[in-house]
Amino acid sequence: ATEIQADLSEILVTEEQILAKLDELALRVADDYAGKDLILVGVLKGAVMVMADFARALPFHAPMDWMAVSSYGASTKSSGVVQIRKDLDTDLNGKHVLIVEDIIDSGLTLSWLLENFESRGAESIEVLALLRKPEAAKVVIDCKYVGFDIPTDFVVGYGLDFDERYRNLRDVAVLAPHVYS
Ligand code: PRP
Ligand code: MN
Ligand code: MG
Repeated sequence: ATEIQADLSEILVTEEQILAKLDELALRVADDYAGKDLILVGVLKGAVMVMADFARALPFHAPMDWMAVSSYGASTKSSGVVQIRKDLDTDLNGKHVLIVEDIIDSGLTLSWLLENFESRGAESIEVLALLRKPEAAKVVIDCKYVGFDIPTDFVVGYGLDFDERYRNLRDVAVLAPHVYS
């Protein structure tokens, strides 16, 4: 295994800032979903860390399910073609669904997922994303719970990967261009 730090040009959001933000979002979600039948749907693999910390900040039962989709693979650009690698185990019919994502970049993954979920009869569907790149949007996603708006640099860490690496970094950092160019 090689060192991660040398591949980073800048720490963008620290673990501490992330956890504080997720606590804040959890308070809003707790308020908005009081008395409702909520299910959290995490988008594998990037959303694993967000889900782990966000779900634990919620004060009530919040069942989790997971959908694995991928559009990036070993590239820093979205292919625009979303593939289902693992589908949900849960029937969304009548449920209040909160999709948990690490990042909205071009928006293509979520726009595809939202359309896919709408056909499953959910009572409501909202999105929580830790990060969003407003200037990279190819489709604008209606995201109710956003952690941080960030510039368009390719970021890794806290679940976000480049070619399956860097997910285990605690902070969100900008990947140094020498790593992928
Ligand atoms: C990344 C990220 C989001 C998506 C955002 O997933 O985790 O799910 O891309 O990009 P978009 O808004 O341009 O669609 P990726 O496809 O890399 O799969 P992964 O979560 O397994 O890393
Ligand atoms: Mn993802
Ligand atoms: Mg990825």
